[in-house]
Amino acid sequence: MFQSIRVGGTGRDTLVVGYFQGQAFDTATAKVLKQVDPSGAAAGALKRPESTGDAGAIAEAFASAKGGQTTRVLVVGLGKPEALDTDAVRTLAGNIGRKLAAVKATGVQLALTPCFEKAGLDLADAGQAFGEGLGLLAWVCDEFKGTAAKKTNRVRLSIRAGESEFDNAMARGVDLAESANFTRTLSQTPPNVATTGFIADMARKLARKTGLSCKILEGEELVREKMIGLINVGKASENKPCLIRLEYKPRGSSGKKPAVLVGKTMTYDTGGLSLKINNGMVGMKRDKDGGCAVLGAMHAIATVIKPRRPVVALLAVAENSISDEAYRPDDVLRYRNGVTVEVTNTDAEGRLVLADALCWACDKEKPAYIIDLATLTGGVVVALGSTFAGMFCEHDGLRGKIEAAAKATGERVWRLPMHAEYRDLMKSPIADILNSNPNRKAHPIQGAAFLSYFVDEKIPWCHLDIAGVHATERSAGCFIEGPTGWGARLLANLLENDTGR
Ligand code: BES
Ligand code: MN
Ligand code: ZN
Repeated sequence: MFQSIRVGGTGRDTLVVGYFQGQAFDTATAKVLKQVDPSGAAAGALKRPESTGDAGAIAEAFASAKGGQTTRVLVVGLGKPEALDTDAVRTLAGNIGRKLAAVKATGVQLALTPCFEKAGLDLADAGQAFGEGLGLLAWVCDEFKGTAAKKTNRVRLSIRAGESEFDNAMARGVDLAESANFTRTLSQTPPNVATTGFIADMARKLARKTGLSCKILEGEELVREKMIGLINVGKASENKPCLIRLEYKPRGSSGKKPAVLVGKTMTYDTGGLSLKINNGMVGMKRDKDGGCAVLGAMHAIATVIKPRRPVVALLAVAENSISDEAYRPDDVLRYRNGVTVEVTNTDAEGRLVLADALCWACDKEKPAYIIDLATLTGGVVVALGSTFAGMFCEHDGLRGKIEAAAKATGERVWRLPMHAEYRDLMKSPIADILNSNPNRKAHPIQGAAFLSYFVDEKIPWCHLDIAGVHATERSAGCFIEGPTGWGARLLANLLENDTGR
């Protein structure tokens, strides 16, 4: 992949042109080609069988201009104009970027804007999506490679369209991708490195670098603040639990209610005494991805978005481990808001730590709204796969904002239902509620129903279950196999469009 991406340069090495399926080059594209490619190599490439017109299908041509200079021309299929939306542009950028990296292109001139405009796209939206696609594609995490791995040299990519509206947005897109890539690198970091203390250090560093304020509650402070879920879930691990609070507070925002972003940050989930079996534990280093997405969003918020509304991030950080000190099935926990919980399954730990953060948010932050992200249930993976995150939100206004952000970023959400009957499912004969009903009904909804006992009814709240979308097994479009950074861009976009009133 690329060492770096810079928007600008002379674009002399490679020209990228597009065409819609079943159509010839449009007049603006033909004009560009006439200069660079007088002998018509690109027109020839368009006639080759690989030029199917499918979005992302690429044929290569070598154009010789009069001066004897050769330019590589990538002739790129764009599909049907009506299907070319910003999400398609992001994926397209991924496909073009893969080709650019493979041929080690350095100075790239994009001539795609005529087609983007023809498809009715706003050039700034298209530019940002293109930049995001390239930036997401460029993510590499080779920190954990050693001497037995081959070192690859990566090229520095310069890329431009030459239209400032598109190019400025593309640069912004690259920056936003960097925030999502921060999330991905954290997700990738193994649990023996990314301990609870490591996550706290990363939050402190992020705060110092970007001007956020940072407070970390641990030890006695957790006891004082009755963070009973964190204390119990984290008890068995030598890596101690903490609640991380980051705050973005723009000038002139006093009196404005903050958006509160909550993230499940389980640095490892063994299941606890209800131990995970049959290899179900593998990959549970990514059980911190809700919190990592919130950190990535805070990075974007502080460096790129700079919204007018204050934003508070709360990360509930613990390691769900086993030892003689572990919390157990049958334990009863009394929460800060007075609700008591009978633990039936120590593997339903995420909701127990999120409950602390939600109570804190309602109690202390006077939030305009709360959004939590969590790799909460395997059930949501069964239900929605890796295509949509499960969304629980009974507040029409907030749900509208989240759906709009999902549309803009391609981080898709699908609403799942809430109902008093689901809340009843969680009732306990011993305490107020159970952390998991032993029947197998509606697990993702049980999770949301549980959490609802810790949110003040008057505060708009959305729970996003990201267990299916936080990582991918497929290398396609702008993603490679591994973490997707899901949520960092969605939350950033949501705050960008939040007027703060
Ligand atoms: N972290 C898991 C959920 C998960 C599963 C995330 C697969 C990513 C991929 C969560 O803590 C968990 O163990 N959930 C249980 C809940 C059950 C015990 C109620 C589950 O989904 O099986
Ligand atoms: Mn679990
Ligand atoms: Zn978990």
